[in-house]
Amino acid sequence: MVIDGLHILHGVDFDVAPVGVTALLGRNGAGKTTTVKAVMGLVPRTGSIRLSGSELSSLPTHLVVRHGIGYAPEDRGIFAGLTVAENLRLAERAAGSGSGSGGEAGEPNYALVHELFPELKQRAGQLAGTLSGGQQQMVAIGRTLLNRNRLIIADEPTKGLAPKIVAEVAEVLARAAEAVPVLLVEQNLALVRRLAGTCAVLADGRTAHRGDTAELLADEEAARRLLGVGSRHPLAGGPRPAAAPASPAAPVVTAEVKP
Ligand SMILES: Nc1ncnc2c1ncn2[C@@H]1O[C@H](COP(=O)(O)OP(=O)(O)OP(=O)(O)O)[C@@H](O)[C@H]1O
Ligand SMILES: [Mg+2]
Repeated sequence: MVIDGLHILHGVDFDVAPVGVTALLGRNGAGKTTTVKAVMGLVPRTGSIRLSGSELSSLPTHLVVRHGIGYAPEDRGIFAGLTVAENLRLAERAAGSGSGSGGEAGEPNYALVHELFPELKQRAGQLAGTLSGGQQQMVAIGRTLLNRNRLIIADEPTKGLAPKIVAEVAEVLARAAEAVPVLLVEQNLALVRRLAGTCAVLADGRTAHRGDTAELLADEEAARRLLGVGSRHPLAGGPRPAAAPASPAAPVVTAEVKP
């Protein structure tokens, strides 16, 4: 069986806002994970994926990473048998590895990670496998902030977590998005409503909708058709994302993944 982005995606295009959180939405199996894997070069892809003006679509994963994308995959990718500090150390990119390829060189930014997530400093010596789900997401997102990235991609960071932990992860993401724009794959629409100013919705490997998140979630018919949620979900109203971009600044990513 051949599984790759070319067979699963049939025309996906979206932009990531230069500030705050942009959501990538869609029902189970819509192609969200395959799309972010296509951006990372983890599945074959054609088309155009531009990050702050650099074309990434022909690059292998290690060079995509060097251009400045931090990726927190669907399974978190934490090493349970290593400590928090060791997990972070493994994520350090060699100083200067970004130079010449569009990424930003420099020492790993532990100051930022510890400022946003002081708990990671307090728990530096703790085995990651003994952390709560929320703390593990802190490690996963913290790793993406270590390397002065231009973009963070988080694939369903709240999957399988209890509601209280989901709230913690939301806080983690909100803090991260103050430092770096985030592309968030997420099924928890209340969370999306709170964090993401704009969104793209995938259906059957295609972009089915792009626009303002609050508007989409307030439109009962569209939300049901695109996301499969009913009218009893309290998605309309409430505060809008604090970091929603007010100006039409250029997107940090422009992606057109072709079949
Ligand atoms: N390794 C694989 N083997 C078989 N089918 C796959 C594989 N990876 C993806 N697919 C298929 O490709 C389609 C898109 O999958 P993808 O994982 O990208 O969806 P998703 O939107 O991330 O779904 P979910 O919300 O469940 O995470 C689905 O129909 C899925 O069954
Ligand atoms: Mg997925």
